[in-house]
Amino acid sequence: MFKNFAPQRLVDIIALLLLTIGGGVEHVLSVVRQLRDLQLILVEGGSVLLNGVRVIGKGTNSVIFKCRPAIGNVELACKVRRGDASRPSLASEGQYLHIANSVGVGPRVYTYSRDVIAYFYVDGVPLGTWWAGADAKQKRGVVEELLRQAFKLDASGVSHNELSRLEKHVLIERGRPVIIDFESATLGGGNNVTQVANGLMRLGLRPPIDALRRYKKCQCPEAFNEVLYGYLQQL
Ligand SMILES: Nc1ncnc2c1ncn2[C@@H]1O[C@H](COP(=O)(O)OP(=O)(O)OP(=O)(O)O)[C@@H](O)[C@H]1O
Ligand SMILES: [Mg+2]
Repeated sequence: MFKNFAPQRLVDIIALLLLTIGGGVEHVLSVVRQLRDLQLILVEGGSVLLNGVRVIGKGTNSVIFKCRPAIGNVELACKVRRGDASRPSLASEGQYLHIANSVGVGPRVYTYSRDVIAYFYVDGVPLGTWWAGADAKQKRGVVEELLRQAFKLDASGVSHNELSRLEKHVLIERGRPVIIDFESATLGGGNNVTQVANGLMRLGLRPPIDALRRYKKCQCPEAFNEVLYGYLQQL
């Protein structure tokens, strides 16, 4: 019923948002205005069914829709703040993701406002699902790239803070890990490699404790390489 609805079909957008993000008419109308100002068009699609509407994902604070810009053919995901969200805005998440992008991490941000972040759609599967069907060589590639991304994030000053639950915060797209959901990110700390180490433990990999301790002190390439070696020799 809502498929590819045109931007002028205001009633459809309002109904779709009322069914999915909740929060009453005031919040929904504010989101409609933001989508209009950002020139974004929501598209129904995804594997999650929410009150009869297909979406990409549903979190405690937001709903993720497929979307596209009014001009040009780009496949985007739109994270929209729910009416009952505990956070007053998604803008800081947009800013953290933007910094992460500057070191090649995370889905690329397209645009954002208070209640909407549009970023490139990641055509992937959650790490947890992917891991179960991957062979050792594939796992090596993903673990190395994931640790390298965490190292770059440390250098950028952004701490993701939820990477110990890796299986939920990493999507694998064509064999490459993409770290998502910067909603709990903070500036400073630089402990992404440590967080990834905790996450990898849940996937059955032993943390190279001495190397991790050294890395924590210096955050230098030498200690990072030791950490990396500690993992790769297990796969
Ligand atoms: N760029 C993207 N491309 C494709 N799918 C995505 C993208 N971003 C998020 N998703 C999907 O939407 C789900 C929810 O995204 P995200 O974790 O950012 O939402 P959230 O509201 O912070 O969730 P939670 O409250 O559980 O932390 C993800 O698990 C993923 O499946
Ligand atoms: Mg989240």
